[in-house]
Amino acid sequence: MSKIKIENLQKRYFERRSRLRSADDVPDSGKQICVLDGIDLEIEEGEMVCILGPSGAGKSTLLRIVAGHDNASAGRILINNKEINGPSQDNIFVYQQNGLLPWYSVWENVELGLRHIEDEEEKNNRIHEFIDIVELTGFEYHYPHQLSGGMQRRAELARALAVNPDILFMDEPFTGLDYLTHLKIREEVINMHSYYQKTTLMVTHFIDDALIMADRIVVLGERPAKVKMVEKLDYARPRNIETERGLRELRDQIFLMLGVSYVA
Ligand SMILES: Nc1ncnc2c1ncn2[C@@H]1O[C@H](COP(=O)(O)OP(=O)(O)OP(=O)(O)O)[C@@H](O)[C@H]1O
Ligand SMILES: [Mg+2]
Repeated sequence: MSKIKIENLQKRYFERRSRLRSADDVPDSGKQICVLDGIDLEIEEGEMVCILGPSGAGKSTLLRIVAGHDNASAGRILINNKEINGPSQDNIFVYQQNGLLPWYSVWENVELGLRHIEDEEEKNNRIHEFIDIVELTGFEYHYPHQLSGGMQRRAELARALAVNPDILFMDEPFTGLDYLTHLKIREEVINMHSYYQKTTLMVTHFIDDALIMADRIVVLGERPAKVKMVEKLDYARPRNIETERGLRELRDQIFLMLGVSYVA
């Protein structure tokens, strides 16, 4: 299990919009947009933290940097007290957009992260198990283009969960799933988390998902994003937002914080 520490993280992107059109044009080289502005956060071993925030705030950027897929402009990320400098086999990332390899079948995509398992039978059982969990049995040899959007999402989740990584990064993992599948897979992730207790950092724009799933919620503000709110959720699971007053109030508060005057 792993502990993550984010220290004063900043990210600036350079704007490369302006292109020289004549010899007299002056290059606009110094223009930057600041996306993350001093993010400090600690994620405990086995904790599930959900990050909420407006679109374009920098949530995916934050996740990519913490997973070592992108560089910070300043600040640092420590995993188990060691500064990271790139992606690691100990963590896995579920992308916001489709991350399946299109030339591999569902089976081969799930197998990707398990190539280190030498015992063929053990490996095959594991692939079967996770394809079954996401209810894709019968579609093992289909390619991503032969699956619906929701099925692709499920295949991707199976691939991530089968690896049993120390840390799971998920960027809007339920996007594109139909409502019922969303609830089912969410349940599955909650169950797996309570069983395996993997450190999990998940970005979502579904406030209810965060309230149902998270040990702690982090709300980011508009870009350049700072941490606007951190709230520990000490509620027993399974949770029901409608019957839990504290969760209902928190939901209203977060909606307001994100600029929606939510009225039930
Ligand atoms: N590679 C890049 N180059 C330049 N700007 C980028 C790059 N990636 C992201 N950005 C900018 O950084 C900002 C944050 O993007 P990011 O994808 O992290 O937002 P987000 O919070 O995940 O949004 P959403 O909820 O819509 O997924 C955006 O303004 C985006 O245009
Ligand atoms: Mg995003």
